[in-house]
Amino acid sequence: MKLLDGKTAVVTGGSSGIGRGIARGFAEHGAAAVVVADVRKDPKGGGPPTHQLLRDETDTEAVFVECDVTNQEDLHETVEAAEAAGGIDVMVNNAGIWHAEDFFEVSEADYRHMMDINLKGAYFGSQIAGERLVENEGGGSIINVSSIAGLFGNGDWPTYAASKGGLTTFTYSLAHKLGDDGVRVNAIHPGGIQTRIGGEVEDEEAAAQQTQQFTRMVPLGRYGQPEDVAGAATFLASDLASYITGESLVVDGGWTSWR
Ligand code: NAI
Repeated sequence: MKLLDGKTAVVTGGSSGIGRGIARGFAEHGAAAVVVADVRKDPKGGGPPTHQLLRDETDTEAVFVECDVTNQEDLHETVEAAEAAGGIDVMVNNAGIWHAEDFFEVSEADYRHMMDINLKGAYFGSQIAGERLVENEGGGSIINVSSIAGLFGNGDWPTYAASKGGLTTFTYSLAHKLGDDGVRVNAIHPGGIQTRIGGEVEDEEAAAQQTQQFTRMVPLGRYGQPEDVAGAATFLASDLASYITGESLVVDGGWTSWR
């Protein structure tokens, strides 16, 4: 018996990075079906599309749905794909964007773009999946991928931090709302995870220096990998976490443990 035996999950932003890691982790732990929902099919950095990878490596039924999480029609189609694949049990709101910014230069359009993807996308993703989870009467798990910036803030990316802070308190609010229906809602707060969210590395030397500086601050002495976040998500999706809701799980190698 595997941890996610029989479960059907949606992972938004599942084509690349952390979402790809989560989708893969779910499949390795026996998920019956995984719906990969993303604006792009091919992963950043190359390799087979995630749904293809899952089909090649595991017995999981994996499908790709082209989905922009800012569009509610797309979110409906995504959740319906999970319903068709056996009935949704787990919704992972992972799709997100990040960039550094100068607070005094942020335009209303910049602000709206980030909020729309990082906060509104997860809000309506939860609403649309939550409706099904409640109707299906089997309970379920909603996992929101926030950030340590969503707990502590960050002066170099205030809009991102605001979007992730909103996602954190939204997570707690939804846990209060859906507990009676057996739906658990939790947040994961990754620290520095090696993905291409910041674009391609252009200056190898500068990147190596940055890695050295960063990893000195991290008790575990390394960047996180998508698999590290996948482990936390698999736990929260599984029945091992059956009495855990409204919780924040930090996955940062101990970086913020001094706070
Ligand atoms: P990534 O850029 O490697 O992957 C993000 C995926 O989301 C991509 O496949 C992209 O196409 C997709 N996406 C972007 N906008 C979308 C939209 N409107 N609709 C659907 N899909 C969309 O990024 P990464 O690093 O894997 O990030 C995943 C999540 O983890 C994000 O929410 C991010 O804020 C969060 N996070 C990442 C950290 C890191 O260090 N990489 C740290 C803390 C949080």
